[in-house]
Amino acid sequence: MQLKDNAFLITGAASGLGAATAERIVAAGGRVVLCDLSEAVESHAARLGEAARAVRGDVTREDDMQAAVEAAVALGGGEEGERGLAGVIHCAGVVSVAKLLDREGNPADLDAYARTVQINLVGTFNVMRLAAAAMSRNAPGEDGERGVIINTASVAAFDGQVGQCAYSASKAGVVGMSLPAARELSRHGIRVMAIAPGVFETPMMSDIPEDAVASLSASIPFPKRLGKPDEYARLAEQIVTNPMLNGEVIRLDGGIRMS
Ligand SMILES: NC(=O)c1ccc[n+]([C@@H]2O[C@H](COP(=O)([O-])OP(=O)(O)OC[C@H]3O[C@@H](n4cnc5c(N)ncnc54)[C@H](O)[C@@H]3O)[C@@H](O)[C@H]2O)c1
Repeated sequence: MQLKDNAFLITGAASGLGAATAERIVAAGGRVVLCDLSEAVESHAARLGEAARAVRGDVTREDDMQAAVEAAVALGGGEEGERGLAGVIHCAGVVSVAKLLDREGNPADLDAYARTVQINLVGTFNVMRLAAAAMSRNAPGEDGERGVIINTASVAAFDGQVGQCAYSASKAGVVGMSLPAARELSRHGIRVMAIAPGVFETPMMSDIPEDAVASLSASIPFPKRLGKPDEYARLAEQIVTNPMLNGEVIRLDGGIRMS
């Protein structure tokens, strides 16, 4: 699957990893629908010019994501029998930190736990199912390929830290869906992959104090710095363009193992 002249849906595209991926795809000659809850998605799409459209929406809502998928199908010139939506790079997500028990021994808030799982895990499934339905109607390309879905997990899916029960579980769910989804969608020529980033320099990480960033960076074997959003975008590009990548989760983390 090439980036050039194809249309992609990018969620979480107002900021961080999603915003960088949109830039890379447009620079390579692709078209993008940028979807995000945040109104900043509109100015980012405007900066990217003619090849980009913005759709405000919540990844947990069926009608919002159906509208985003339809916008991407239309941007791809998606008459029946052509290729409308070629790929999804799903970056929308939230981080949360809460211990099971607080200092006084009170249990964690159940609604906060469910909210993280709803956005990061159920939102991923929502985007994946609606995008897959649209892609399954594409005309097949080389090898019968109709589309590619890239989800975003986290190294916290594997090495969750104290306070990450909700975040780690939500991202482990994203990891767990990769293989069964790839197996199921193979008959439609749709690949499913996930990227598990380590620690990246995005607004999500901007609340972390400087000394914590320094100690996190020191714990990365190499390179000893946070990842740059375009390094995520470069892996997304490789996944889109390399048809043998399927049903797998790739850690992108400089070798960090959280403890
Ligand atoms: N930055 C990191 O170090 C890091 C590490 C591992 C995994 N990740 C994951 O990468 C993804 C992107 O993170 P980022 O660092 O770019 O964060 P970010 O906060 O910069 O961007 C996330 C975007 O998602 C949007 N969003 C949140 N909830 C949404 C919803 N319900 N519907 C639509 N949009 C919503 C936000 O408005 C924001 O623009 C997330 O899934 C995150 O968990 C990030």
